[in-house]
Amino acid sequence: MKTQIGIVGAGPAGLLLSHLLHLQGIDSVVLETRSRSYIENRIRAGVLEHGAAELLRACGLGARMDREGLAHHGIVLRFGGQSRRIDFQELTGKSVMVYGQHEVVRDLVAVRLAAGGDIRFEVSDVSVEGHEGDAPQIRFTQEGVAQVLDCDFIAGCDGFHGICRPSLPEGFITEYDRVYPFGWLGILAEVAPSSDELVYARHANGFALLSMRSPTIGRFYLQCPPDEDANAWSADRIWSELHTRLADDQGFVLTEGPIIQKSVTAMRSFVAEPMRAGRLFLLGDAAHIVPPTGAKGMNLAVGDVAVLSQALGQHYASRGDAGLDDYSANCLRRVWKVQRFSWWMTSMLHNFEGAGAFDQRVQLAELDYVTGSRAASTTLAENYVGLPLVGG
Ligand code: FAD
Ligand code: DHB
Repeated sequence: MKTQIGIVGAGPAGLLLSHLLHLQGIDSVVLETRSRSYIENRIRAGVLEHGAAELLRACGLGARMDREGLAHHGIVLRFGGQSRRIDFQELTGKSVMVYGQHEVVRDLVAVRLAAGGDIRFEVSDVSVEGHEGDAPQIRFTQEGVAQVLDCDFIAGCDGFHGICRPSLPEGFITEYDRVYPFGWLGILAEVAPSSDELVYARHANGFALLSMRSPTIGRFYLQCPPDEDANAWSADRIWSELHTRLADDQGFVLTEGPIIQKSVTAMRSFVAEPMRAGRLFLLGDAAHIVPPTGAKGMNLAVGDVAVLSQALGQHYASRGDAGLDDYSANCLRRVWKVQRFSWWMTSMLHNFEGAGAFDQRVQLAELDYVTGSRAASTTLAENYVGLPLVGG
Protein backbone atom coordinates (compact mmCIF):
# COMPACT_ATOMS: atom_id res chain seq x y z
CA MET A 1 0.00 0.00 0.00
CA LYS A 2 1.30 3.46 -0.87
CA THR A 3 0.37 7.07 -0.12
CA GLN A 4 2.07 10.46 0.01
CA ILE A 5 1.56 11.24 3.72
CA GLY A 6 1.09 8.47 6.29
CA ILE A 7 -0.75 9.97 9.26
CA VAL A 8 -0.68 8.22 12.65
CA GLY A 9 -3.69 9.22 14.81
CA ALA A 10 -7.19 10.51 14.03
CA GLY A 11 -7.45 13.28 16.62
CA PRO A 12 -7.96 16.90 15.56
CA ALA A 13 -4.35 17.10 14.30
CA GLY A 14 -4.36 13.99 12.08
CA LEU A 15 -7.84 14.53 10.64
CA LEU A 16 -7.38 18.24 9.91
CA LEU A 17 -4.00 17.58 8.28
CA SER A 18 -5.56 14.92 6.05
CA HIS A 19 -8.33 17.34 5.03
CA LEU A 20 -6.03 20.31 4.31
CA LEU A 21 -3.71 18.05 2.28
CA HIS A 22 -6.67 16.71 0.29
CA LEU A 23 -7.68 20.30 -0.58
CA GLN A 24 -4.20 20.72 -2.09
CA GLY A 25 -4.43 17.44 -4.04
CA ILE A 26 -2.11 15.53 -1.68
CA ASP A 27 -3.03 11.95 -0.69
CA SER A 28 -2.90 10.60 2.83
CA VAL A 29 -3.93 7.57 4.85
CA VAL A 30 -4.93 8.03 8.52
CA LEU A 31 -4.33 5.15 10.95
CA GLU A 32 -6.19 5.15 14.27
CA THR A 33 -6.17 2.56 17.05
CA ARG A 34 -9.60 3.51 18.42
CA SER A 35 -13.04 3.08 16.83
CA ARG A 36 -14.86 5.86 15.00
CA SER A 37 -17.51 5.98 17.71
CA TYR A 38 -14.86 6.30 20.44
CA ILE A 39 -13.08 9.29 18.90
CA GLU A 40 -16.39 10.96 18.00
CA ASN A 41 -17.63 10.81 21.59
CA ARG A 42 -14.43 11.55 23.51
CA ILE A 43 -15.12 14.69 25.55
CA ARG A 44 -12.09 16.96 25.70
CA ALA A 45 -11.38 20.60 24.85
CA GLY A 46 -14.10 23.12 24.09
CA VAL A 47 -12.68 26.47 22.92
CA LEU A 48 -11.48 27.36 19.41
CA GLU A 49 -9.29 30.43 19.04
CA HIS A 50 -10.34 33.07 16.52
CA GLY A 51 -7.72 31.88 13.99
CA ALA A 52 -8.58 28.20 14.42
CA ALA A 53 -12.29 28.91 13.82
CA GLU A 54 -11.37 31.01 10.75
CA LEU A 55 -9.23 28.19 9.40
CA LEU A 56 -12.10 25.70 9.81
CA ARG A 57 -14.42 28.12 7.96
CA ALA A 58 -11.88 28.63 5.18
CA CYS A 59 -11.61 24.88 4.57
CA GLY A 60 -15.37 24.32 4.38
CA LEU A 61 -15.98 23.22 7.98
CA GLY A 62 -17.69 26.34 9.33
CA ALA A 63 -21.38 25.60 8.70
CA ARG A 64 -22.27 23.42 11.71
CA MET A 65 -19.74 25.20 13.94
CA ASP A 66 -21.38 28.57 13.19
CA ARG A 67 -24.88 27.12 13.62
CA GLU A 68 -24.33 25.14 16.82
CA GLY A 69 -21.20 26.69 18.33
CA LEU A 70 -21.33 29.68 20.65
CA ALA A 71 -19.32 32.80 19.77
CA HIS A 72 -17.89 34.25 22.99
CA HIS A 73 -16.67 37.83 23.14
CA GLY A 74 -15.13 37.71 26.61
CA ILE A 75 -14.56 35.72 29.81
CA VAL A 76 -15.10 36.40 33.50
CA LEU A 77 -12.32 36.12 36.09
CA ARG A 78 -13.73 35.57 39.58
CA PHE A 79 -11.64 36.06 42.71
CA GLY A 80 -12.10 37.39 46.23
CA GLY A 81 -15.86 37.50 45.66
CA GLN A 82 -15.56 39.76 42.63
CA SER A 83 -16.45 39.08 39.01
CA ARG A 84 -14.37 40.98 36.46
CA ARG A 85 -14.92 40.67 32.73
CA ILE A 86 -12.19 40.65 30.07
CA ASP A 87 -13.76 41.99 26.87
CA PHE A 88 -11.98 40.27 23.96
CA GLN A 89 -13.97 42.07 21.31
CA GLU A 90 -13.18 45.51 22.64
CA LEU A 91 -9.52 44.76 23.41
CA THR A 92 -8.60 42.75 20.30
CA GLY A 93 -11.54 42.98 17.87
CA LYS A 94 -11.70 39.16 17.99
CA SER A 95 -13.68 36.45 19.76
CA VAL A 96 -13.48 32.69 20.35
CA MET A 97 -15.85 29.86 19.48
CA VAL A 98 -17.12 27.44 22.12
CA TYR A 99 -17.51 24.20 20.15
CA GLY A 100 -16.55 20.80 21.56
CA GLN A 101 -13.48 19.03 20.25
CA HIS A 102 -15.57 15.90 19.54
CA GLU A 103 -17.82 18.02 17.29
CA VAL A 104 -14.73 19.19 15.35
CA VAL A 105 -13.65 15.54 15.08
CA ARG A 106 -17.14 14.50 13.83
CA ASP A 107 -17.10 17.25 11.18
CA LEU A 108 -13.61 16.22 10.04
CA VAL A 109 -14.40 12.49 9.84
CA ALA A 110 -17.57 13.27 7.85
CA VAL A 111 -15.83 15.54 5.35
CA ARG A 112 -12.93 13.10 4.84
CA LEU A 113 -15.19 10.08 4.32
CA ALA A 114 -17.48 12.05 1.98
CA ALA A 115 -14.42 12.84 -0.15
CA GLY A 116 -13.39 9.17 -0.25
CA GLY A 117 -10.65 9.72 2.33
CA ASP A 118 -8.88 6.68 3.75
CA ILE A 119 -9.20 6.52 7.55
CA ARG A 120 -8.44 3.10 9.08
CA PHE A 121 -10.02 2.74 12.51
CA GLU A 122 -9.19 0.07 15.10
CA VAL A 123 -5.76 -0.78 13.72
CA SER A 124 -3.10 -2.20 16.06
CA ASP A 125 0.67 -2.85 16.29
CA VAL A 126 1.46 0.48 14.62
CA SER A 127 5.19 1.16 14.10
CA VAL A 128 7.19 3.61 11.99
CA GLU A 129 10.56 3.11 10.31
CA GLY A 130 12.79 4.39 7.52
CA HIS A 131 12.06 8.06 8.23
CA GLU A 132 15.76 8.83 8.64
CA GLY A 133 16.17 7.81 4.97
CA ASP A 134 14.07 8.32 1.82
CA ALA A 135 11.59 5.48 2.22
CA PRO A 136 9.47 5.80 5.36
CA GLN A 137 7.10 2.96 6.18
CA ILE A 138 4.30 2.45 8.67
CA ARG A 139 3.53 -1.10 9.72
CA PHE A 140 0.17 -1.93 11.27
CA THR A 141 -2.36 -4.71 11.67
CA GLN A 142 -5.95 -4.38 10.48
CA GLU A 143 -8.54 -7.12 11.09
CA GLY A 144 -5.74 -9.54 11.89
CA VAL A 145 -3.78 -8.83 8.70
CA ALA A 146 -0.31 -7.25 8.91
CA GLN A 147 0.11 -4.38 6.44
CA VAL A 148 2.85 -1.99 5.30
CA LEU A 149 2.15 1.58 4.20
CA ASP A 150 4.91 3.16 2.07
CA CYS A 151 4.86 6.95 2.14
CA ASP A 152 6.91 10.06 1.36
CA PHE A 153 6.50 11.52 4.86
CA ILE A 154 5.05 10.42 8.20
CA ALA A 155 2.93 12.76 10.33
CA GLY A 156 3.00 11.72 14.00
CA CYS A 157 -0.39 12.94 15.24
CA ASP A 158 -0.80 10.16 17.79
CA GLY A 159 -1.04 12.19 20.98
CA PHE A 160 1.10 12.21 24.10
CA HIS A 161 1.03 8.40 24.57
CA GLY A 162 1.55 7.55 20.88
CA ILE A 163 4.39 5.60 19.28
CA CYS A 164 5.93 8.22 16.97
CA ARG A 165 7.86 10.31 19.50
CA PRO A 166 9.28 7.24 21.31
CA SER A 167 10.40 5.85 17.91
CA LEU A 168 13.01 8.57 17.54
CA PRO A 169 16.59 7.60 18.38
CA GLU A 170 17.54 7.93 22.04
CA GLY A 171 18.96 11.38 22.73
CA PHE A 172 17.65 12.92 19.48
CA ILE A 173 14.91 14.82 21.29
CA THR A 174 15.17 17.15 24.25
CA GLU A 175 12.12 17.00 26.49
CA TYR A 176 11.03 19.90 28.70
CA ASP A 177 8.55 18.84 31.34
CA ARG A 178 6.65 20.27 34.29
CA VAL A 179 4.12 18.23 36.24
CA TYR A 180 1.59 20.14 38.36
CA PRO A 181 0.58 18.91 41.82
CA PHE A 182 -3.11 18.88 40.86
CA GLY A 183 -5.55 17.78 38.17
CA TRP A 184 -9.02 18.73 36.96
CA LEU A 185 -12.23 16.86 37.58
CA GLY A 186 -14.23 17.51 34.38
CA ILE A 187 -18.04 17.32 34.55
CA LEU A 188 -20.70 17.36 31.85
CA ALA A 189 -24.22 18.18 33.08
CA GLU A 190 -27.66 18.54 31.55
CA VAL A 191 -28.20 22.13 32.61
CA ALA A 192 -28.47 25.51 30.94
CA PRO A 193 -25.26 27.52 31.57
CA SER A 194 -25.64 29.85 34.58
CA SER A 195 -23.49 32.46 32.83
CA ASP A 196 -23.39 33.69 29.23
CA GLU A 197 -19.60 33.53 29.32
CA LEU A 198 -16.93 31.22 30.74
CA VAL A 199 -16.08 31.89 34.40
CA TYR A 200 -12.53 31.16 35.62
CA ALA A 201 -12.64 31.21 39.43
CA ARG A 202 -9.78 31.37 41.90
CA HIS A 203 -10.85 30.15 45.35
CA ALA A 204 -9.02 29.07 48.51
CA ASN A 205 -10.53 25.57 48.02
CA GLY A 206 -9.06 25.43 44.51
CA PHE A 207 -9.77 26.53 40.96
CA ALA A 208 -13.18 26.11 39.29
CA LEU A 209 -14.29 26.72 35.71
CA LEU A 210 -17.79 27.16 34.39
CA SER A 211 -17.99 26.37 30.69
CA MET A 212 -20.63 24.99 28.36
CA ARG A 213 -21.26 22.94 25.26
CA SER A 214 -24.70 24.20 24.23
CA PRO A 215 -27.67 26.14 25.65
CA THR A 216 -28.69 22.94 27.47
CA ILE A 217 -25.35 21.30 28.36
CA GLY A 218 -22.96 22.71 30.97
CA ARG A 219 -19.28 21.83 31.30
CA PHE A 220 -17.48 22.36 34.62
CA TYR A 221 -14.02 21.73 36.00
CA LEU A 222 -12.80 21.54 39.62
CA GLN A 223 -9.18 21.50 40.74
CA CYS A 224 -8.52 18.19 42.55
CA PRO A 225 -5.56 15.94 43.44
CA PRO A 226 -3.86 14.63 40.24
CA ASP A 227 -4.58 10.97 41.05
CA GLU A 228 -8.15 11.56 42.27
CA ASP A 229 -10.76 8.86 41.71
CA ALA A 230 -13.70 10.55 39.94
CA ASN A 231 -16.03 8.21 41.86
CA ALA A 232 -14.98 9.93 45.09
CA TRP A 233 -17.07 12.86 43.83
CA SER A 234 -20.81 12.32 44.27
CA ALA A 235 -23.22 14.70 42.51
CA ASP A 236 -23.88 16.39 45.87
CA ARG A 237 -20.19 16.92 46.53
CA ILE A 238 -19.62 18.28 43.01
CA TRP A 239 -22.47 20.79 43.16
CA SER A 240 -21.64 21.85 46.69
CA GLU A 241 -18.01 22.55 45.71
CA LEU A 242 -19.05 24.34 42.51
CA HIS A 243 -21.42 26.56 44.54
CA THR A 244 -18.62 27.42 46.98
CA ARG A 245 -15.89 28.09 44.43
CA LEU A 246 -18.04 29.93 41.87
CA ALA A 247 -19.85 32.20 44.37
CA ASP A 248 -19.44 35.98 44.05
CA ASP A 249 -20.71 39.03 45.94
CA GLN A 250 -22.80 40.17 42.98
CA GLY A 251 -25.62 37.64 43.21
CA PHE A 252 -24.33 34.87 40.91
CA VAL A 253 -26.71 31.89 41.02
CA LEU A 254 -25.53 28.45 39.88
CA THR A 255 -28.21 26.16 38.47
CA GLU A 256 -27.79 22.40 39.01
CA GLY A 257 -28.70 19.54 36.69
CA PRO A 258 -28.09 15.80 36.17
CA ILE A 259 -24.39 14.93 35.75
CA ILE A 260 -23.90 12.78 32.65
CA GLN A 261 -20.12 12.37 32.62
CA LYS A 262 -17.13 12.94 34.91
CA SER A 263 -13.41 12.19 34.64
CA VAL A 264 -10.07 13.36 36.06
CA THR A 265 -7.17 14.69 33.96
CA ALA A 266 -3.70 15.21 35.42
CA MET A 267 -1.93 18.39 34.34
CA ARG A 268 1.48 18.93 32.80
CA SER A 269 3.48 21.20 30.55
CA PHE A 270 5.65 19.32 28.04
CA VAL A 271 7.63 20.17 24.90
CA ALA A 272 9.70 17.85 22.69
CA GLU A 273 12.34 19.56 20.54
CA PRO A 274 12.82 19.38 17.61
CA MET A 275 9.42 18.48 16.15
CA ARG A 276 10.94 16.82 13.08
CA ALA A 277 13.32 13.92 12.54
CA GLY A 278 14.10 13.30 8.87
CA ARG A 279 10.82 12.47 7.16
CA LEU A 280 8.86 12.16 10.41
CA PHE A 281 7.01 15.23 11.74
CA LEU A 282 5.42 15.48 15.18
CA LEU A 283 2.20 17.50 15.56
CA GLY A 284 -0.15 18.38 18.43
CA ASP A 285 -0.04 16.44 21.70
CA ALA A 286 2.60 14.08 20.25
CA ALA A 287 5.02 17.02 20.52
CA HIS A 288 3.64 19.14 23.35
CA ILE A 289 1.12 19.25 26.19
CA VAL A 290 -0.24 22.31 28.00
CA PRO A 291 -2.23 22.50 31.22
CA PRO A 292 -5.80 23.25 30.08
CA THR A 293 -6.29 26.56 31.92
CA GLY A 294 -5.71 28.65 28.78
CA ALA A 295 -7.89 26.38 26.55
CA LYS A 296 -4.95 25.84 24.20
CA GLY A 297 -4.41 22.09 23.59
CA MET A 298 -6.55 21.67 20.47
CA ASN A 299 -5.56 25.12 19.16
CA LEU A 300 -1.85 24.28 19.33
CA ALA A 301 -2.55 21.14 17.29
CA VAL A 302 -4.38 23.25 14.68
CA GLY A 303 -1.38 25.64 14.52
CA ASP A 304 1.08 22.79 13.81
CA VAL A 305 -1.23 21.45 11.11
CA ALA A 306 -1.51 24.88 9.46
CA VAL A 307 2.30 25.16 9.28
CA LEU A 308 2.91 21.61 8.02
CA SER A 309 0.11 21.55 5.45
CA GLN A 310 1.47 24.77 3.94
CA ALA A 311 5.02 23.39 3.88
CA LEU A 312 3.92 20.11 2.27
CA GLY A 313 1.87 22.08 -0.27
CA GLN A 314 5.04 23.97 -1.25
CA HIS A 315 7.03 20.74 -1.45
CA TYR A 316 4.58 19.02 -3.80
CA ALA A 317 4.15 22.17 -5.92
CA SER A 318 7.96 22.09 -6.45
CA ARG A 319 8.34 25.36 -4.60
CA GLY A 320 11.13 24.06 -2.40
CA ASP A 321 11.58 22.63 1.06
CA ALA A 322 12.20 25.78 3.08
CA GLY A 323 8.82 25.32 4.81
CA LEU A 324 9.64 21.73 5.77
CA ASP A 325 13.11 22.72 6.95
CA ASP A 326 11.66 25.53 9.09
CA TYR A 327 8.67 23.50 10.35
CA SER A 328 10.03 22.73 13.80
CA ALA A 329 11.47 26.18 14.53
CA ASN A 330 8.30 27.90 13.25
CA CYS A 331 6.00 25.77 15.39
CA LEU A 332 8.18 25.96 18.48
CA ARG A 333 8.17 29.76 18.53
CA ARG A 334 4.39 29.67 18.90
CA VAL A 335 4.38 26.59 21.13
CA TRP A 336 6.64 28.25 23.72
CA LYS A 337 4.53 31.42 23.81
CA VAL A 338 1.42 29.30 24.35
CA GLN A 339 3.26 27.26 26.99
CA ARG A 340 4.06 30.50 28.78
CA PHE A 341 0.43 31.65 28.64
CA SER A 342 -0.97 28.30 29.82
CA TRP A 343 1.54 28.09 32.67
CA TRP A 344 0.76 31.70 33.67
CA MET A 345 -3.02 31.21 33.68
CA THR A 346 -2.54 28.00 35.68
CA SER A 347 -0.23 29.68 38.21
CA MET A 348 -2.54 32.67 38.63
CA LEU A 349 -5.73 30.69 39.21
CA HIS A 350 -4.85 27.49 41.11
CA ASN A 351 -4.35 26.79 44.77
CA PHE A 352 -0.78 25.51 45.25
CA GLU A 353 -0.47 23.33 48.33
CA GLY A 354 1.99 24.84 50.74
CA ALA A 355 1.71 28.31 49.24
CA GLY A 356 1.88 30.78 52.11
CA ALA A 357 -0.21 33.88 52.77
CA PHE A 358 2.30 36.01 50.83
CA ASP A 359 1.96 33.91 47.65
CA GLN A 360 -1.82 34.05 47.92
CA ARG A 361 -1.85 37.84 48.24
CA VAL A 362 0.44 38.12 45.21
CA GLN A 363 -1.97 35.89 43.25
CA LEU A 364 -4.90 38.14 44.17
CA ALA A 365 -2.90 41.26 43.32
CA GLU A 366 -2.07 39.78 39.92
CA LEU A 367 -5.76 39.10 39.20
CA ASP A 368 -6.63 42.61 40.36
CA TYR A 369 -3.93 44.05 38.07
CA VAL A 370 -4.81 41.88 35.06
CA THR A 371 -8.47 42.86 35.25
CA GLY A 372 -7.82 46.50 36.19
CA SER A 373 -5.13 47.52 33.72
CA ARG A 374 -6.08 47.85 30.07
CA ALA A 375 -2.55 46.88 29.03
CA ALA A 376 -2.60 43.71 31.15
CA SER A 377 -6.18 42.80 30.10
CA THR A 378 -5.12 43.20 26.48
CA THR A 379 -2.19 40.83 27.02
CA LEU A 380 -4.55 38.17 28.38
CA ALA A 381 -7.14 38.79 25.65
CA GLU A 382 -4.58 38.71 22.82
CA ASN A 383 -3.24 35.35 23.98
CA TYR A 384 -6.68 33.85 24.73
CA VAL A 385 -8.16 34.68 21.30
CA GLY A 386 -4.90 33.32 19.89
CA LEU A 387 -1.61 34.44 18.37
CA PRO A 388 -1.39 34.10 14.57
CA LEU A 389 -1.56 30.40 13.63
CA VAL A 390 1.38 30.65 11.25
CA GLY A 391 4.31 32.80 12.38
CA GLY A 392 2.76 33.59 15.80
P1 FAD B 1 -5.27 13.52 20.28
O1 FAD B 1 -6.58 14.20 20.27
O2 FAD B 1 -4.81 12.88 21.54
O3 FAD B 1 -5.30 12.44 19.12
C1 FAD B 1 -4.34 11.43 18.99
C2 FAD B 1 -5.00 10.24 18.35
O4 FAD B 1 -4.01 9.24 18.10
C3 FAD B 1 -6.04 9.60 19.24
O5 FAD B 1 -7.24 9.43 18.54
C4 FAD B 1 -5.41 8.27 19.64
O6 FAD B 1 -6.40 7.26 19.84
C5 FAD B 1 -4.54 7.99 18.44
N1 FAD B 1 -3.40 7.10 18.70
C6 FAD B 1 -2.65 6.99 19.82
N2 FAD B 1 -1.69 6.08 19.66
C7 FAD B 1 -1.82 5.60 18.40
C8 FAD B 1 -1.12 4.64 17.65
N3 FAD B 1 -0.08 3.97 18.17
N4 FAD B 1 -1.51 4.40 16.38
C9 FAD B 1 -2.56 5.06 15.84
N5 FAD B 1 -3.28 5.99 16.52
C10 FAD B 1 -2.90 6.24 17.78
N6 FAD B 1 -7.41 20.72 26.06
C11 FAD B 1 -8.04 21.84 26.36
O7 FAD B 1 -7.68 22.87 25.81
N7 FAD B 1 -9.10 21.83 27.25
C12 FAD B 1 -9.52 20.68 27.86
O8 FAD B 1 -10.46 20.68 28.63
C13 FAD B 1 -8.86 19.50 27.58
N8 FAD B 1 -9.23 18.35 28.16
C14 FAD B 1 -8.53 17.22 27.89
C15 FAD B 1 -8.88 16.01 28.52
C16 FAD B 1 -8.15 14.85 28.29
C17 FAD B 1 -8.55 13.56 29.00
C18 FAD B 1 -7.05 14.90 27.41
C19 FAD B 1 -6.22 13.64 27.16
C20 FAD B 1 -6.73 16.08 26.76
C21 FAD B 1 -7.45 17.26 26.99
N9 FAD B 1 -7.13 18.46 26.36
C22 FAD B 1 -7.79 19.57 26.65
C23 FAD B 1 -6.09 18.56 25.37
C24 FAD B 1 -6.66 18.47 23.95
O9 FAD B 1 -7.77 17.64 23.93
C25 FAD B 1 -5.53 17.97 23.08
O10 FAD B 1 -4.52 18.96 23.08
C26 FAD B 1 -5.94 17.62 21.65
O11 FAD B 1 -6.73 16.48 21.65
C27 FAD B 1 -4.71 17.42 20.77
O12 FAD B 1 -5.07 16.85 19.56
P2 FAD B 1 -4.14 15.77 18.86
O13 FAD B 1 -4.82 15.43 17.58
O14 FAD B 1 -2.75 16.26 18.84
O15 FAD B 1 -4.11 14.52 19.84
C1 DHB C 1 -12.98 24.32 28.35
C2 DHB C 1 -11.78 23.76 28.67
C3 DHB C 1 -10.74 24.55 29.03
O1 DHB C 1 -9.55 24.01 29.34
C4 DHB C 1 -10.88 25.93 29.11
O2 DHB C 1 -9.83 26.70 29.50
C5 DHB C 1 -12.08 26.50 28.78
C6 DHB C 1 -13.14 25.68 28.39
C7 DHB C 1 -14.10 23.45 27.96
O3 DHB C 1 -13.91 22.23 27.90
O4 DHB C 1 -15.22 23.94 27.73
